[in-house]
Amino acid sequence: MVPHRLLREQTRDAHDAAEAAPVMRHLLDGTLSRAGYAGLLAAQWVLFRDFERDHAQWLADTVARHGWTWRSRADLLARDVAELGGTLPTEAAVSSRHVVDESASWGMLYVIEGSALGGQLIVRGLRQRFPDAAHRFYGVGDDQGSSWRCFQQILDDVLAEEPAQARAIRGARHMFARFQTTFQDRISHA
Ligand code: HEM
Repeated sequence: MVPHRLLREQTRDAHDAAEAAPVMRHLLDGTLSRAGYAGLLAAQWVLFRDFERDHAQWLADTVARHGWTWRSRADLLARDVAELGGTLPTEAAVSSRHVVDESASWGMLYVIEGSALGGQLIVRGLRQRFPDAAHRFYGVGDDQGSSWRCFQQILDDVLAEEPAQARAIRGARHMFARFQTTFQDRISHA
């Protein structure tokens, strides 16, 4: 099986669980309040701030060399939160890991870039519900169609070997788990 299909197969359950998270259901069915939406974005800002700090060099060098341009989600999230009148958490960053396993990092990036596909559905509802806001974060996948196929091709190139695929799957599952933790922390604020 080609690596990008393997990643999808091996993380399908994690994706279904992420989609089923209560805060995601509220987001999708239009019952998340403006404050709840801002809070969800602020919580995800922490995740992306840490991811981007830990992977700054890798994103700027390796990922760019493979022809993929990283768009800072932390920047988009910070601007969305400010526009919605929310505040960013002040909690300090916890980890300061260097990228030691590039395959795992590709797996993490797969989860992030893939989530923009679901974002295309989510942003349609958000634009109707909160028409005054720009929805930069959930709108990041607006023009993702052809570029997603490019990203899948990159995954197939960099994860050609079986051990790399196994590490990428672990990285992807780890990233899904980080999202789940972020979502769980939001339930009481929905
Ligand atoms: C309400 C929430 C969500 C919905 C409705 C949703 C829906 C979707 C849809 C429609 C696709 C595209 C399937 C395709 O065209 O082949 C997709 C793909 C994907 N989504 Fe989600 N999603 C949601 C949440 C998430 C979250 C929170 C994450 C990450 C933490 C995520 C990660 C992914 C990934 C990695 C893919 C690519 C799957 C592949 O390899 O084809 N999704 N999602």
